[in-house]
Amino acid sequence: MFESMSWGKRNRLYQIVNQRDNRCLMLAIDHGYFMGPTHGMEFPHEDTANLIPYIDSLMLSPGILSTCIDPQTRGIGWVLRATGGNSVLDVDIDDEGLILEAEEAVRLNASGVAVSIYVGAEHQHQTLLNLSKMINDASKFNLPVLGVTAVGKRLSDKREKRYLSLASRIAAEYGADIVKTYYCEGFEEVVQKCPVPIVVAGGARLDTYRDVLELTYNSIQCGAIGVDMGRNIWQSEYPAAIIQAVRAIIHEGANVKQAAEMVESLST
Ligand code: 5RP
Repeated sequence: MFESMSWGKRNRLYQIVNQRDNRCLMLAIDHGYFMGPTHGMEFPHEDTANLIPYIDSLMLSPGILSTCIDPQTRGIGWVLRATGGNSVLDVDIDDEGLILEAEEAVRLNASGVAVSIYVGAEHQHQTLLNLSKMINDASKFNLPVLGVTAVGKRLSDKREKRYLSLASRIAAEYGADIVKTYYCEGFEEVVQKCPVPIVVAGGARLDTYRDVLELTYNSIQCGAIGVDMGRNIWQSEYPAAIIQAVRAIIHEGANVKQAAEMVESLST
């Protein structure tokens, strides 16, 4: 994977993606950039401590990296949120701009940056230009860009194949190195028509941990390289057990039954 890339970009991409199997377990904890102290991630240092050993990479905002994460942490990649400018109090959650420059991301030793696009929303144009600007700036530093196909309230009914395929393909056409999107019915077609690797977001909390494992398993079966998952891990009752089970599906070929057994044995 990533054969055509320069050495520097490839090296950074393999801080995000596990080079042993080209799969990825990215833990998303960037929610505070618009949701503030989110339940389960009020104290990022403590709340990530027993999860970091199981992940390939962490997606977070620059201020949480520099204040809450031990700079001596090794063995994982860092994907920094580079767009924002709104909060849960805003109606226009899609009204985003760039909040991080590629050069600053490199100074923070980022492995990559994440840029949200809101395809079909009122501010689609500016969010696509955010992606394009970051891709151009990041290329000066061989810094990978994760294109995030965000939905928010306005687009919450859009989690279906046609829409997610459109948004994912647009992110890839602009030059995103990895695309993050949502799982849907017929997801294999979304993956097939997107020429760069896809990671799947978890979304709001699902009813049961089995649903989380099924989401992960189905995503992998459809061709995703992994997940970039947040709330369904750290808002669960047993975050460390869930993350190990999700990891087993992504990296060890576990099925849903085996992963569920793992959660049961690790949470008792
Ligand atoms: C917000 C994001 C989040 O990182 C993303 O939604 C993943 O977290 P979760 O699994 O909780 O949805 O990109 O825009």
